[in-house]
Amino acid sequence: MKPTVVAIDGPAGAGKSTIAKALAVALGIEYLDTGAMYRGVTFEVLKRGLEATDVDAVARVARTIRFIQTRDSLHVNDVDATAAIRTAEVDAAVSHVAANSAVREEMRTRQRQWITEHGGGVVEGRDIGSVVFPDATLKVYLVASPLVRAQRRVAQHGGDVEEIARAIAERDQRDSTRDDSPLRQMPDAVVVDTSDHTVPEVIDEIRRLLLERGAALRSATSESDSATGDSTNGLSS
Ligand code: DC
Repeated sequence: MKPTVVAIDGPAGAGKSTIAKALAVALGIEYLDTGAMYRGVTFEVLKRGLEATDVDAVARVARTIRFIQTRDSLHVNDVDATAAIRTAEVDAAVSHVAANSAVREEMRTRQRQWITEHGGGVVEGRDIGSVVFPDATLKVYLVASPLVRAQRRVAQHGGDVEEIARAIAERDQRDSTRDDSPLRQMPDAVVVDTSDHTVPEVIDEIRRLLLERGAALRSATSESDSATGDSTNGLSS
């Protein structure tokens, strides 16, 4: 049987991580944050004093980088980079790294490998339904109003709402206008607006859509291991 792959795409701050993680627990399957992978490459690039726009140097970093990724942490070449990949410095540089085609090719390969190794999962990103898993069981495109998105980022990481809203808009612009696999809403994706819905409401809606598609859903209660969040995603290269 084909593995269940739920693709969760959408712009920054639409609620992808919260929804994708909760959904993975509810379904008793694994979760992969592909944005963390691009952030991990960016972290290593900056750590080495390289320019994020240096296409060849960044590609070399991406091809050799070692990730150990769990639901809540990321180790990059044996360094715990969980907090460091969320800094403003990484925020500002990551879309340059994500626009690098060689980096994307390497990350796509690793993401497909991850699904094969884990027998399916909930995968969050920008090009998951469009490019990485065009045959995903279900494609969800999450959106939220610009103000709600900026407020969520501030609640998570602090900062000024207006400044963050500007930074989010710039990143969206770069992510959706790049040549290689830009952020876009696929015609077969279900659009879910998270602005005015609670997490359980959104999860229920996605579960319903999955059942409609005949996906074999497991009960979360019999998957206590998955719910503890201590399973290793094993994204080591
Ligand atoms: O979701 P996030 O903010 O952690 O993503 C970080 C950056 O990586 C963001 O600029 C979009 C980019 N990205 C991407 O291009 N493709 C993905 N599949 C995931 C993230």
